[in-house]
Amino acid sequence: MQHVLAVDQGTSGTKAVVVDASGAVLSSAEVAHAPRHLPGGGVEHDPEQLWDAVVATGRRALAAAGLPVGAVGAVALANQGETVLAWDRDTGRPLSQAVVWQDRRAVTVTDPLRAQGYAEPLARRTGLVLDPYFSAPKLRWLRDHVTSEGVVTTTDAWLVHRMCGAFVTDVSTAGRSLLTALEDPTRWDADLLATFGLADEPVPAIVAGDDVVGATDVFGPTLAVTGLVVDQQAALLAQGCWEAGTAKCTFGTGAFLLVQTGTTPVLSPGGLTTSAAWRLRDETRFCVDGQVYTAASAVDWLAGLGVLGSAAEIDAVAAPDAGGVQFVPALTGLAAPWWQPDAAASLTGLRLGTGRAEVVRAVVEGVAASVAHLLAVVRAEGTEVRSLRVDGGLTRSDVLVQALADRTQVPVERHRSEHTTAVGAAVAAHLALDPDLTPAAALPQGDSPSPVLPRWSPERAEAEGARWSAAAQAVADAPTTPT
Ligand code: G3P
Repeated sequence: MQHVLAVDQGTSGTKAVVVDASGAVLSSAEVAHAPRHLPGGGVEHDPEQLWDAVVATGRRALAAAGLPVGAVGAVALANQGETVLAWDRDTGRPLSQAVVWQDRRAVTVTDPLRAQGYAEPLARRTGLVLDPYFSAPKLRWLRDHVTSEGVVTTTDAWLVHRMCGAFVTDVSTAGRSLLTALEDPTRWDADLLATFGLADEPVPAIVAGDDVVGATDVFGPTLAVTGLVVDQQAALLAQGCWEAGTAKCTFGTGAFLLVQTGTTPVLSPGGLTTSAAWRLRDETRFCVDGQVYTAASAVDWLAGLGVLGSAAEIDAVAAPDAGGVQFVPALTGLAAPWWQPDAAASLTGLRLGTGRAEVVRAVVEGVAASVAHLLAVVRAEGTEVRSLRVDGGLTRSDVLVQALADRTQVPVERHRSEHTTAVGAAVAAHLALDPDLTPAAALPQGDSPSPVLPRWSPERAEAEGARWSAAAQAVADAPTTPT
């Protein structure tokens, strides 16, 4: 069986791994690249930096694997879900910066649509919320504010076009756009395109995760291009969340809780979003998801203030208790279930005796509490979640993982691989390379680390959860000030 080169093109970095057909990672390479935060809520990447990182990490991972020519058969891509740019289809040249999913400037698109009563019908039809987080408002914003030239797409379509000339996106990425209807996530919806004034735009073909869309030699050997899955859903796949009701949370730049709901979309009355998880073997799976926009980026913010060297220091610095300090990590607005893009973070309960150890603890607890709150919404809507699978750089922190177990009151299972998202894309590509392979066989095999169990009593978890939720509600209700 051939191996797969899988690239995880994320917000804070790009990672490439070579993965065998049993999910084992043979080599890896990584490049960090922070987006720029602009006044007014802008968050941007230089697209060429992303492309250079994809090519450089891919080549380095292949070289590190040291495999003979022909041993690696395909390249897979897990992409940031809702990051968009304008680009020239003839030359592949970017015509704008990449507008990152965290960017809030497209409130100029969502606010008027909301005022016209579009929010509720859009939510019913797409499973998503009329919020600048999703791609369509940002695509419209690019047209209104940057350029009328070229095409406007999510970054995956541009990266794949650069690799092999195909003009495609995948079902799971299209499902983050507000431009596909839940009843058929495999095609763009004409009414939805018209709602965002995008009816005349050339749109990429929507493909399945195990479709082969072309071949590329940008990494050296000629590789099939397949295994296209948006990053959070790729991690859900790698975590083996095959059964309805299985849940994972990835702690990257943000934290993203996803619960697989099977072959039927389940709408969330409580403010979570619903979208396609993946399309593989001619079957579409769905998930509900909740988002915490700043997780590692909240820790990076602390580091930028000099409170902490880096995330690696969390466990050494964090106090055993936050001493009454509470943090609501709304540094780039609030997502599910509040959906207040202009909300600002809060750090409350400060006293003269508060030190950096309490502040670090409060930030970690605030991230964990945000995820626990989302899980509580999932449960209140009738989905029984018996354990939470977690992955992402921040889960190296025992303090965070214990806080999650305490606040969610379920065992928390760290994923066995440090490369979960890329492995998920590799699983999809392996299914394309071998029609007889089952998804379960392509997942990483071996023992998982022991689950981390709750130490708090249910009563304490409930009381602390209520206290944090009140702080979050205050943030959601607070009048916004211009940034
Ligand atoms: O929805 C945002 C997500 O796709 C970005 O993930 O891993 O870059 O924080 P990440």
